[in-house]
Amino acid sequence: MHKFDVVVIGAGAAGLFCAGVAGQRGLKVLVIDHSEKVAEKIRISGGGRANFTNKDVTPANFLSENPHFCRSALSRYAPKDFTELVTRHGISFHEKHKGQLFCDRSAEDLVNMLLAECAAGNVTRWQPCSVKNIRYSAAGADSTGAGSYEIDSSEGTLQTPQIVVATGGLSIPKIGATDFGYRLAQQFGLRMVAPRPALVPLTFDSAAWAPYAHLSGLALPVQIEVGAKKTKTSFLEDLLFTHRGLSGPAVLQISSYWREDTPIRLNLAPEVDLPPALSRAKATSRKLIANELAQLVPSRLADAWAGQDAAWQKPICDATDKALAQLAEKLARWELTPNGSEGYKKAEVTAGGVDTRDLSSQTMESKQPGLYFIGEVVDVTGWLGGYNFQWAWASGFACGQAL
Ligand code: FDA
Repeated sequence: MHKFDVVVIGAGAAGLFCAGVAGQRGLKVLVIDHSEKVAEKIRISGGGRANFTNKDVTPANFLSENPHFCRSALSRYAPKDFTELVTRHGISFHEKHKGQLFCDRSAEDLVNMLLAECAAGNVTRWQPCSVKNIRYSAAGADSTGAGSYEIDSSEGTLQTPQIVVATGGLSIPKIGATDFGYRLAQQFGLRMVAPRPALVPLTFDSAAWAPYAHLSGLALPVQIEVGAKKTKTSFLEDLLFTHRGLSGPAVLQISSYWREDTPIRLNLAPEVDLPPALSRAKATSRKLIANELAQLVPSRLADAWAGQDAAWQKPICDATDKALAQLAEKLARWELTPNGSEGYKKAEVTAGGVDTRDLSSQTMESKQPGLYFIGEVVDVTGWLGGYNFQWAWASGFACGQAL
């Protein structure tokens, strides 16, 4: 029987980071992953350069049934703590827009850093290694109430008083995502917030989308929103038209807030006050509406929009005020209802997960003694822009310090 102080299941961002922290505190740590290669999601993230944190992280950048849960961990391990670590490892990085920090060279540098941190803590790694079964025995529980776990793995049976579950969410199953963490939580009677794909492109009924499908590849800045007045969430980001629907940062962001059978609203010209701009053009120009519109929005969009109504297919000087007002309204308040999303195959993250009501926000320990949950498996989901990795580091740190 192999014995460890801690067994971390899942060698991704949160698991490796937590293991390094715990190992460097002198604990005997084992990390298990069923994949051959650790941290595949780090490797593919940020176009291969990993947007590993964001300079401006607040709880408002996260979704959860309990929006306050992430506060403690985020405040105890801030983006600057991680950038200091990255700098200590000689990894250079740069800021893209909105505080997003990326590796200059490759996301692989970050994986090597996490492995070096584990090595510094004498962390043992087994992979590929799968977990078949976990049993808990309260017999001999110490003063903290912790008993002991037996883990049947493909490499033999293990004994440990503490398990950290860092198996992530369901997105991108082809690189090893599983529902292991959710099933384990349920085995021990913890509550779940139903998982759903997030940071994901949205799709539309093919007949409804047909008039826009030819815009595939078009990208433009938009204001996008969901929800009614009081619950409204909106982002100013780039939109990308695809063959099946909408993508790009704007749609990925709003997808985390979008719920089935509800509309999204788009302002396709957020930087232009359309009604006066069109009125001015009407007073001075004899060009077609589409050509005038092309001064204000990308020409492919201008052509597609003006083509939707006979009242918009004429010289702008001949258009009625009402027609121009309707055109402006349709561009600035385009409302449409997705029929779904591209699902876990394309989602960057999974929203929902282990219910934070059953976890300590200080330590990430669940109400089942000695069983911890960190990273994406928890019902804390960040915006696009480095927030999900920051949650992996911060929750991993809080847990690694508490083990
Ligand atoms: P993570 O998914 O990293 O690790 C889970 C580990 O558990 C994996 O190694 C997996 O093999 C293992 N595992 C799963 N089931 C298991 C089982 N049954 N037994 C054993 N092991 C098991 N975020 C961000 O902040 N900036 C970015 O640039 C990006 N970019 C990005 C791009 C793409 C394409 C995706 C899919 C995702 C992102 N993300 C991101 C999100 C980010 O990758 C994600 O939130 C973190 O990796 C989550 O870290 P975790 O450690 O919780 O899970």
